[in-house]
Amino acid sequence: MSLLDRIKQTADFLQNKFNATNPVGIVLGTGLGELASEIKDPIIIEYAEIPNFPQSTVEGHDGKLIYGRLNGVEVLAMKGRFHFYEGYSIEEVVFPIRVMHFLNVKTLILSNASGGMNPAYKVGDIMVLNDQINLFPTNPLMGPNIEELGPRFPDMSEPYDLDMIQLIKESANMLGHELHEGVYAGVSGPCFETPAEYKYLRIIGGDAVGMSTVPENIAAKHLGMKVAALSVITDLGVEGIVETVSHEEVQLAAQNAEPKLASIVKRFLPKLTTI
Ligand code: HPA
Repeated sequence: MSLLDRIKQTADFLQNKFNATNPVGIVLGTGLGELASEIKDPIIIEYAEIPNFPQSTVEGHDGKLIYGRLNGVEVLAMKGRFHFYEGYSIEEVVFPIRVMHFLNVKTLILSNASGGMNPAYKVGDIMVLNDQINLFPTNPLMGPNIEELGPRFPDMSEPYDLDMIQLIKESANMLGHELHEGVYAGVSGPCFETPAEYKYLRIIGGDAVGMSTVPENIAAKHLGMKVAALSVITDLGVEGIVETVSHEEVQLAAQNAEPKLASIVKRFLPKLTTI
């Protein structure tokens, strides 16, 4: 079966369960899954039950799709995502985003854990992404272009929607949460960076670095979606203070910051109708 047919087959399977109208898509990153438990009247489907879906492998990334309402807004949330470093092809990594398109998702919120290179950042801080640098060794749009998904050469002059960024800033402000705005460098992982790599990523313009989000953003922009992304700074790669880091620490720091991130997302969602 062609990729497009597989995407549509999966969307049909899910649409029979949800009957989604116009949900906001949400991808919950490492340690940030708690928000999913606040979704009202949830319909929960394990990735293992979804035809053509890759399966999640990493600790702390359990795989569930949750459809329902969050602060009154129709949402379709992924609890757990597929990372390139797990061995999935880049096409598999973005498969769920393409399925979301056929479930009428036009607006997407991505979240992740990342390492901060900007010296103003601290562990537990939150950054709204205003741009990104693709340092994955590939691109999800490689290969023959599928016209039904988008153009051959998509414009990337506004990878993160400026209106959404504004609303996210307003939401954080109203809640009294400090919020950074910065550039996310997306790398394959799975190693964390060496001191020289953190320095390099800072020099080329990165404020934070992580192992996700960029492929999903590219696939979503190709599909014409509006995208916003929030990152929890879980460790620091600031010159002179690069410390050891482990997956457990990343998970713990993300879990600690999750209530702050969740409150921003919840406050922001109903404002989406204004743009
Ligand atoms: N580097 C890459 N990915 C990450 C980091 C980091 O320091 N922290 C969380 N994800």
